[in-house]
Amino acid sequence: MQRGFRWLLGVFAVLAVLALAVAHAHAAADPYANGDASAGAKIAQSSGCEGCHGAGFSGGIGPKLVGIEKRLTPDQIGAAIEHPKPPMPDFGFSRAQVADLVAFLSGLDGGTGKPVVKIVPPEPSDEATVLATFSGTPPADVAVQAYMEMGTSGHGSAWVPLKKTDDPRVLAAKVHFSMGGPWIVKVRYSGGQEIDVPVMAQGG
Ligand code: HEC
Repeated sequence: MQRGFRWLLGVFAVLAVLALAVAHAHAAADPYANGDASAGAKIAQSSGCEGCHGAGFSGGIGPKLVGIEKRLTPDQIGAAIEHPKPPMPDFGFSRAQVADLVAFLSGLDGGTGKPVVKIVPPEPSDEATVLATFSGTPPADVAVQAYMEMGTSGHGSAWVPLKKTDDPRVLAAKVHFSMGGPWIVKVRYSGGQEIDVPVMAQGG
């Protein structure tokens, strides 16, 4: 009985270490992704960032931050806040707060606005890759659906989340067309905005 219990403890210890390792690897991959821009806006407001970075973040004692997502990766922006160079103060933000600030700053110029959607190949048989290119850090909630009008109703595939690619501004996912004909590839982003791209599938 006691032996069995100890054995079980050992298993739990191993599992705990594994879970930590996985969590750590996940955090290390993209520590400042998926921040909440509106939470970031509040933190920036209450921290007086504009006092140094200028009204509207257009530049002052500190550099202009509008459009920063075009110069720096989310990692670099986050690192500049988490490990600031004097005279910028160390605010002691949590990782999550820094991620929120990164999301907010990256959207100052509408950087996380409307993506450019590309379908590869443009005339697919029964499957295509959907690429959504954002001018800044992509929002976290981008998904795609293949949809076909059928008389008064329609037929849509399940929504598939777009995943990160090697390019930090590009998200991608595969969509399937269950038959040949005129489809609409619907890309949904930033809490319900949608881009519809018509595609003529050739059939599998
Ligand atoms: C006391 C003035 C001051 C305050 C307050 C301040 N900063 Fe800074 N910040 C600076 C300066 C100066 C730099 C440039 C440091 C360097 O690279 O030499 C900087 C750099 C940065 C950078 C890197 C910019 C780049 O182009 O490399 C970011 C991002 C940034 N600040 C964000 C913030 C945020 C967000 C806040 C508010 C939470 C903030 N700063 C508050 C002065 C300030």
